[in-house]
Amino acid sequence: MRLRLGVNIDHVATIRNARGGLHPDPLRAVRIVEAAGGDGITLHLREDRRHIRDGDLDALMGSTVLPVNLEMAATEEMLAIALKHRPHAAMLVPERRQERTTEGGLDAAGQHNHLAPMVTQLTDAGIRVSLFIEPDPRQIDAAIRLRAPVVELHTGKYAHGDPDGSELRRLADAAALCVKNGIEPHAGHGLTFDNVGPIAAIPQLAELNIGHFLVGEAIFIGLEASIREMRALMDTARG
Ligand code: PXP
Repeated sequence: MRLRLGVNIDHVATIRNARGGLHPDPLRAVRIVEAAGGDGITLHLREDRRHIRDGDLDALMGSTVLPVNLEMAATEEMLAIALKHRPHAAMLVPERRQERTTEGGLDAAGQHNHLAPMVTQLTDAGIRVSLFIEPDPRQIDAAIRLRAPVVELHTGKYAHGDPDGSELRRLADAAALCVKNGIEPHAGHGLTFDNVGPIAAIPQLAELNIGHFLVGEAIFIGLEASIREMRALMDTARG
């Protein structure tokens, strides 16, 4: 199975917002992702609009051939936005205003009653629902009960350092458990040229979503080269 690469364009908007103008334009990044062979566009419209804004989502929808994966908190506001735009996929993520980035996965097990109607409404609108969770059998069990077709496994702990390989094993076991239960596993957060290999080698994973490193590396080598290099490393790891 070819491992797809979804490119998260949030931090193109972060740089734009630092000066309050229009440059760099996230849509221009989308054109580069398309040219570089990226398989999807991921963007996170946060409650505080710190990077991607509503206008970015408006401009993106219908203007790319790539599937759009909208990361969103499980709130009524975001649900309404997702239902209006109907992206290919909606990834439910935990969100706290004080955090720098999405720290930790969604508590799908503890929030079943809150999430269930959202999953149903998104699914009924033809949107593929994904849950961003820790590689934890309890959370996968919750995803099964919520009938989520996809989960994204949080690779943050692995990316912060995994000297004994235990986090990598947890991710591999979680990916296998997902497939056994008919869920398509994706993974992402904190992935770089240096640490993507062992994750890309997990055979059950169908997609990686990568953002911050690709945009950061683009400062030095350009966005297209940064995406192409990541793609090549993923392909090499898949053998
Ligand atoms: N997947 C999810 C659910 C995320 O929230 C993020 C960060 O926005 C990513 C993947 C990408 O993480 P990074 O920017 O560290 O590559």
